[in-house]
Amino acid sequence: MLFDTHAHYDDDAFDDDRDELLAVLPSKGVGLIIDPGCTVVSSRASIALAERYDHVYSAVGVHPEEIGTLTDSSLDEILALAKHPKCVAVGEIGLDYYWDDTHKAEQKALFRAQLEMALTLDKPVIIHDREAHGDCLEIVREYEGLRGVFHCYSGSVEMARELLRRGWYLGFDGPITYKNARKAIEVLELCPTDRILIETDSPYLSPVPMRGKRNDSSNLQFVVKKIAEVKGISEEEICAVTAANGKRLFNII
Ligand code: NI
Repeated sequence: MLFDTHAHYDDDAFDDDRDELLAVLPSKGVGLIIDPGCTVVSSRASIALAERYDHVYSAVGVHPEEIGTLTDSSLDEILALAKHPKCVAVGEIGLDYYWDDTHKAEQKALFRAQLEMALTLDKPVIIHDREAHGDCLEIVREYEGLRGVFHCYSGSVEMARELLRRGWYLGFDGPITYKNARKAIEVLELCPTDRILIETDSPYLSPVPMRGKRNDSSNLQFVVKKIAEVKGISEEEICAVTAANGKRLFNII
């Protein structure tokens, strides 16, 4: 069974065929999915999908790129949604200096507020770190007991070593199948299999040979194939281990 721990099925890219697609994914081997919200609206949509489909779970949060959508009540609304029984994490939260490096202080404050929320609720977090590795690491170090995944890990080998030592999981997505993926492959080589999560980040980041097309969880097989090749372990075992990892981290029985 494949567990796609990161796919945005609430995104408009799925407006035409969301229900058809989600209904058939289990028959294509995708037995579990987490849909992380990026705003209050998308977090609410993610909860609605989790209520509708047994195999879909939700995470709720405000993504750093969506800082412009924040209102005075946003974090209270996220907190209320996070208490839903099918909400398994706070995410997608983090720092993104690629899209916007002019609001670093605001991004950090939003990130910290949501990390504290996760600790209060005793839930793991799903972290988005783009071009903000140093600050993300520094911030997560501040919180004892915090656990979760660095989604689509893109930091250095040294940072990966530290995160693994601290108990974090690392998420691997379509980009590991790209030709220029040297650093991500090095990280994958050193990452113990019991800390690997597999993700699509649908509708983005389609793996080779689907690169450039809309991504969906059925393409997770290409990510698994690459991990199996790098680790020298069968695809079946990679599927089983990563599904167990996801269930353990997100407390899904
Ligand atoms: Ni994402």
